[in-house]
Amino acid sequence: MSEASPPTRPTLVVTRRLPAAVERQAAELFDVRLNTTDTALTAEQLADAMRSADALLPTVTDAITAAVLSVSPRRVKIVANFGVGYNNIDVATARSLGIVVTNTPDVLTDDTADLAMTLLLTAARRVGEGERHVRAGEWTGWGPTHMLGTRVSGKTLGILGLGRIGCGVAKRASEGFGMRVIYFDPPVPIGHARACGAAPRASIEDVLRESDFVSLHMPASTENHHLINAERLALMPRHAILINTARGDIVDEAALAAALGRGAITAAGLDVFEREPAVNPALLKLENVVLLPHLGSATTETRVAMGERALANLKSYFSDTPPRDRVA
Ligand code: DGY
Repeated sequence: MSEASPPTRPTLVVTRRLPAAVERQAAELFDVRLNTTDTALTAEQLADAMRSADALLPTVTDAITAAVLSVSPRRVKIVANFGVGYNNIDVATARSLGIVVTNTPDVLTDDTADLAMTLLLTAARRVGEGERHVRAGEWTGWGPTHMLGTRVSGKTLGILGLGRIGCGVAKRASEGFGMRVIYFDPPVPIGHARACGAAPRASIEDVLRESDFVSLHMPASTENHHLINAERLALMPRHAILINTARGDIVDEAALAAALGRGAITAAGLDVFEREPAVNPALLKLENVVLLPHLGSATTETRVAMGERALANLKSYFSDTPPRDRVA
C-alpha cells in the first residue's frame, strides 16, 4: 500500500521579519518564506511573490500597487496586511481581481492612542527639547522662566477621525486629563461619540478654530491627502499644537514646517511622514516639533497580536471561513 502524501500547505510570503513567536506560528500553519534581510522588498520581488505564493503578508513599507497585483500568471489569492491602515495596498484593484485583502484592527488601538497622548504631552511640555538640552550639557540649573511649556489638563482637544484610535485618544484625554474633547467625523453615530466623551462640531474648520490641541485619526485616502494644508493651519490659534499618528500625507509637511517656523502654531508631534523614512529637512531643523519613527503600534504585545491577527485571517481564508478582517 502506498503512503498518502501529506496535504500541501499554502505558501505564504512574509515581507518583513515579524516577532519570533509569530514567525513560529506562521511556519506551523504555512509553507512560509521569510525575508531574512528585513529590508523592504522591491516591486519586482513583490511581483515574484504574487506569481509564486498562495498568500502574501505585507506591511506598511510594501507598496502593493496595481502593477504588483496584476502580474500574470498570478497565484496569490489573499493579501493579509500587518497593520490596521492599508493605504499601501491598491484595494480597488485587488477587489476587481478577486484578491482578498485583510487588515489588523483593534489590537493596536490602545498602544497607538497611548503614543498620540505621549506626543501631545511631549510637544506641550517641550520634553524632546529638554532632553536634548540636558544631554548637550547646556542646562545651567532650575529657573522660574526656564523652558516653559503649555498646560494640557483642562484644555480643548479636537479629534479629526473618531474611529477606534480617535476614540481611545478622546477617552484618555477626557477621563485622564479632564480635557474637553470635540471632533469632526460625520458618519460616526452620536451614541459612539458620547461613549468616547467627545462632542461633535459641524466642520473641520470649526474643530481647528476651537481646539488647543488637534489630533489626526483618519485613514489615508485621496480626499484626506493634505487635508491639513496652509489654509487650515492658518485657522488654528497661535498657541495650538498638532499631533499626527495617522498617516503622513494627511498633512502638507512643507506648510506645517512653515507654520511652525514662523510661530503660526506653537508645536507639533509627528509619528508619520509623507515619504517615510525621509523626513522633510525643514522639520528636522525645528525645535518645536517632536519627530518619532512611526512607533504607534510598536510594543512587543501589539506587534505579536498584529501578527497573530494576520495569521488568523489567513487561516480562516484557507479553511473556507470568511476572514474576520476582510476589507476587500
Ligand atoms: C498601522 O497598523 O496602520 C500602523 O501604522 C503600522 O502600519
